[in-house]
Amino acid sequence: MNILILGGGGREHALAWAISQNPKCDRLFCAPGNAGIAEVAECVRLNPEDASEVCAFAAEHAIDFVVIGPEAPLAAGVADALRADGYLTFGPSQAAAQVEASKAFTKQLCDEAGADTARYARSTDAASAHAYVAEQGTPIVIKADGLAAGKGVTVAMDDATARAAIDDCFDGAFGDAGAEVVIEEFMEGEEVSLFVLTDGEAMLPLASAQDHKRAFDGDEGPNTGGMGAYSPAPVLTDALRDRALDTIVGPCLKVLRERGTPFAGVLYAGLMIQDGRPRLVEYNARFGDPECQLLMARMGAQALDVLLAVAEGDLAQARVNWADDHAVTVVLAAKGYPGDYAKGEPIRLPDLAGEPLVQIFHAGTAEKDGQLVSNGGRVLAVTARGASLQEARDRAYGVVDRIDWPGGFHRRDIGWRAL
Ligand code: AMP
Ligand code: GLY
Repeated sequence: MNILILGGGGREHALAWAISQNPKCDRLFCAPGNAGIAEVAECVRLNPEDASEVCAFAAEHAIDFVVIGPEAPLAAGVADALRADGYLTFGPSQAAAQVEASKAFTKQLCDEAGADTARYARSTDAASAHAYVAEQGTPIVIKADGLAAGKGVTVAMDDATARAAIDDCFDGAFGDAGAEVVIEEFMEGEEVSLFVLTDGEAMLPLASAQDHKRAFDGDEGPNTGGMGAYSPAPVLTDALRDRALDTIVGPCLKVLRERGTPFAGVLYAGLMIQDGRPRLVEYNARFGDPECQLLMARMGAQALDVLLAVAEGDLAQARVNWADDHAVTVVLAAKGYPGDYAKGEPIRLPDLAGEPLVQIFHAGTAEKDGQLVSNGGRVLAVTARGASLQEARDRAYGVVDRIDWPGGFHRRDIGWRAL
């Protein structure tokens, strides 16, 4: 089959790497892709958020299956347009993708489903938001309702921070995304991500992962899109996973189904675990990045079969044969990220021939005059498997240390919580 992947980050490189190994895959395209993806797929210049461009490309190239990586095309309704044109598509509808695109939508969904999550209030004006914070006290969490590129959430430990976050939202710091604010109870505990495939009915939990969101070692510094991750995350025991499926994910999927907007795709549940109790922090309508690198490294070519089963509504029959292994991914970012950083700096990668347990996935790279250069904030993700977390981690850092890129930085402590 001919397959098109939308997106161009580390997540999409991992998807392309896994899918390209499956014998069902004939031609593989990725839009827009990046320099690493270009090694396993044909990169295409088109705007992945423009449904008519995507559908026109699919028609011209006899595409059989489309995999949507990032949230923006989902929120823009690209999955709906593709399905309307008869293309098998992995990725939820615009209506179902609201679980990520609107925090208020998800809070309401949890109310209706009886799913355990933080207490909250919604507000469309600064005065009522300030009043609610004054009443609740700190710590408290202020969230812009819409998609804000991961920047719309403030965990406010004191009153001044909470006030500033509210004013930022209503002063337009996040554009339309901040026109409504969700104010949440601060939840303590350990965060873990659970990835669940669903075709709207059946659920296939994939694996747990834990992400390191802060820029620097020891979980210090600014929040990022994720500086590294490991899977499985021991904090999410089988019992806790089942409890989260029974009391949070399952009931929410049921409500979406009953509303006539079933969620089909991968539901990424961000959970807070405290004293054996899972609570929902957020949903995303896509694979995490870099968590996807771990899942693809561990699943390999099987990934295509299960993504197809989701798109065909046939997930109840699908299985993944998991190796009893662990994976670690270490992100290399440009110095300055998540603030300002340089692009176009040369990178030299080691030759990994004969080292099948480790991959370098490209997140933000380009090729310039035959030379690999940096082209984003998060640039590479070294992803390794091993029989233990320690083995996977040592293997990943062994390769990180062989990458020649003076303009980059990375964390040295990925996985510390589980070791
Ligand atoms: P979100 O975009 O909703 O995942 O929020 C980003 C991050 O903020 C989460 O990964 C948590 O670390 C933190 N966070 C969000 N909501 C809460 C909450 N209610 N209590 C504690 N931390 C939170
Ligand atoms: N790594 C977190 C995310 O993809 O949202």
